[in-house]
Amino acid sequence: MTKTKSSVGIDDIAVHVPKLFISTLGEFAQARGIEPAKLARGIGVERMAVPDAHEDAATMAASSVLDLMRKNDLLPEDVGRIYIGTESGVDEAKAIGTYVIGMLERVFGPGTFQECSTVEFKSACIAATHALENVAYWLKAEEDENDFDDADGESGESRGRVGIVVATDIARYELNSPGEYTQGAGSVALLVKRNPKLLALDPVMGVFTRDENDFFRPIGMRCAVVNGKYSNLCYLAAMDGAFYSYKKKALARGMIRLAGGECTSDHLDHMIFHIPYPRMAEYAAASILRREWRDLPRWREVEEEIGPEPRSEDFSGQKERLSAEGDYKRRFSKSAKFLEAYEKMVKPSTLISSVVGNIYTGSIYLGLASLLEKNLLVPGQRIGLGSYGSGCSAAFFSGTVQPGAGSMARGEILEKLDERVEIDLADYQLLHEGERGKSVISPSGEFALVEIDGDGYRRYDLVG
Ligand code: HMG
Repeated sequence: MTKTKSSVGIDDIAVHVPKLFISTLGEFAQARGIEPAKLARGIGVERMAVPDAHEDAATMAASSVLDLMRKNDLLPEDVGRIYIGTESGVDEAKAIGTYVIGMLERVFGPGTFQECSTVEFKSACIAATHALENVAYWLKAEEDENDFDDADGESGESRGRVGIVVATDIARYELNSPGEYTQGAGSVALLVKRNPKLLALDPVMGVFTRDENDFFRPIGMRCAVVNGKYSNLCYLAAMDGAFYSYKKKALARGMIRLAGGECTSDHLDHMIFHIPYPRMAEYAAASILRREWRDLPRWREVEEEIGPEPRSEDFSGQKERLSAEGDYKRRFSKSAKFLEAYEKMVKPSTLISSVVGNIYTGSIYLGLASLLEKNLLVPGQRIGLGSYGSGCSAAFFSGTVQPGAGSMARGEILEKLDERVEIDLADYQLLHEGERGKSVISPSGEFALVEIDGDGYRRYDLVG
């Protein structure tokens, strides 16, 4: 009998966002001397999530995992891996996942997770994507080793066990800096298993890596050092590189077959990019689609609207050439053909980020949650995902929406976001600087950091 391999991918998503937020459009914009329209439209962020005094990357991670486990009736013995992507680690040595397991065992009982392994992945905002890749490999390796074809996955060490990938971060930049209005905080937990109900991952990932100083946070610093405009350029170059690596592999494998006049992105129903702020996803889409379309018959329509692309031989100096290129880039991103594709394929994924801000490595998965919340994931569709981590590297991969997506709960995340409490600038600044000892909202029925002892060990509890 021929053995058929099961697919591996994302079965469910749980999102945890702090209860507090600051609006970028009121007191904040006024105090920083910025027009609200710039933040709402130029950046695309209207609200930023702010962690309270008792929250950190570990409490947020534990909360999203607990939510995911409860939603899916999972017991600790069902979970073989909890791999965590974060650049907001709470210790230089101890894995954040051990703190998370400590918190979860307050709910499920001491020792219940002892056969679950946990690793902390660090690679700026791309970390959770590599954690996902690794959990998927674990599930596939088990299947290969045990050579089983059972749709329930009842074999091997992972015998029906699942993996959980967690993205958890606090994006923090200096007060009064241009990075400040791209902050945020939150955690996303992904249930990863065989024959997933939401998204089966395709076997191709395009990658791009190079050494850059666009964004980093030296040990001991609370805020990132960021070369803002340069970071946008690094993101675009890396995303282009990863997309073309993906395209090469997908075409060579026959995973995507192009008919005349088609390009690879025509075979993707949505493209979800890393979302440090929503406009960045728009810049990424413009950069990729312009390159995808320029040799196709449809480019004539673009040229009719905005004229031909500038050619380097038409300019004597680099300054003139760069200025013409910048101008053309702007015109392309306002062209009817691009806007039609962007509104349909990319913009819907930025919904949650526009009211949460950057949650670093989880931002791309907030994009997936946005599509789910808005009922935009149709079984059979292929979704492209472009992950970026400063420093820098990018990965482009894809997955196919599964029939189970149709029956998944929707609207819950947006409902919870509506229940958040707005804080004023004074409280936001105290929390930002770590100078507000007391929580704005006392923890109730949630994980909280209760003490850091004299040795630096962190004590967490399920409080209230
Ligand atoms: P900025 O100085 O605010 O940029 O910095 P700007 O002045 O160019 O304005 C941005 C847009 O607002 C422009 O739009 C303006 O025209 C527009 P564009 O011309 O590009 O279309 N604008 C207005 N629009 C409407 N009404 C107005 C108005 N005024 C201006 N009145 C920057 C922006 C993102 C650089 C800054 O916020 C920053 O440094 N952020 C942090 C770094 C960052 O997020 N970089 C993104 C790429 S790197 C990345 O994604 C990785 C990261 O997530 C970390 C990791 O990997 O771990 C950050």
